[in-house]
Amino acid sequence: MNTTVTHVDIPIIEAPLIPDIAVTIIDENEREILIQNIKRLLLERNAVIVAHYYTDKDIQRLAEETGGLVSDSLDMARFGNQHSANTLVVAGVRFMGETAKILNPEKTILMPTLKAECSLDLSCPPDAFARFCDQHPERIVVVYANTSVEVKARADWVVTSSNAIKVVEHLMDEGKKILWAPDRHLGHYIQSMTGADMLIWQGACVVHEAFKANGLKRLKLQHPDAAVLVHPEAPAAVIEMADVVGSTSRLINAVKEMPHHTFIVATDNGIFYKMGQVAPDKQLISAPVGGRGATCLSCAHCPWMAMNNLRNLSHALEAGDGEIKVDPLIAEKALISTRRMLEFEG
Ligand code: 13P
Ligand code: SF4
Repeated sequence: MNTTVTHVDIPIIEAPLIPDIAVTIIDENEREILIQNIKRLLLERNAVIVAHYYTDKDIQRLAEETGGLVSDSLDMARFGNQHSANTLVVAGVRFMGETAKILNPEKTILMPTLKAECSLDLSCPPDAFARFCDQHPERIVVVYANTSVEVKARADWVVTSSNAIKVVEHLMDEGKKILWAPDRHLGHYIQSMTGADMLIWQGACVVHEAFKANGLKRLKLQHPDAAVLVHPEAPAAVIEMADVVGSTSRLINAVKEMPHHTFIVATDNGIFYKMGQVAPDKQLISAPVGGRGATCLSCAHCPWMAMNNLRNLSHALEAGDGEIKVDPLIAEKALISTRRMLEFEG
């Protein structure tokens, strides 16, 4: 990935190539066989599934049925760290598997596929990021969990969208100036909420960046009583129209707890499975994205999350494939900033 440096010396990173959404057709018969196979292998291997809300609903259901977890990225990290299983099967994207390995070096971490990237992680190459940090030694380095183990190793703090504002407020109380990476939208949101002095890396999530304020305005006219829920990786103009801004868990709680009947949701539509489970009588509408059908980049579904399915999950458990390996010395450094996040009581 090429990088150039602008007059304000924030590296400009080429947008990552986005894979097509992989649709894996699994018929009812195969589905049942895979589910039984996975259940047996989980027991045999003393393994547990830790899945993100954006993954396929069959995976979410299976994680819950087998004593695993479906959650946001912060709780995924916490759960893996506290659970006694020898093997964690992380259904999500690679940074989630790496975080599990950083926190649990003694455990085997398997993923259904190691090809599941994240555009934020890809938009923050470790070497360019290290140079950027070297240019600003006076700033404390705070990175989003959606980064590689190398970037976490260079950081002072790791945060997720659940705790970013509180951590930044805590650092402001200590008089710190912040270097933030990689998501520019989340960075600007945190800055607007806290007034912190932040130098912001220019990465973005291809899924959330595609939500459009104009389309949302029109949709709100059609549903004037709907509440608007927005993940803070969305652009500022979309965030401005939100009734609730927050992590995936926060948005799910909002659907359960708010009195509204209809919700317009600006995040990956994989979340609708859990939202429908916690509030079956409510109406959920996906916020509009740039382009439709063949012309939209992600169509509100992360192409990397979509790579996880029952077939490759079963194969990972059966063959021990898809094991996350990280350099132990780098992981040891990354553990400092990652553990700070888990120990932070905001
Ligand atoms: P959460 O931490 O809110 O689950 O977000 C992770 C993510 O990748 C959102 O795109
Ligand atoms: Fe990364 Fe965006 Fe996918 Fe979340 S939705 S994993 S931020 S690319």
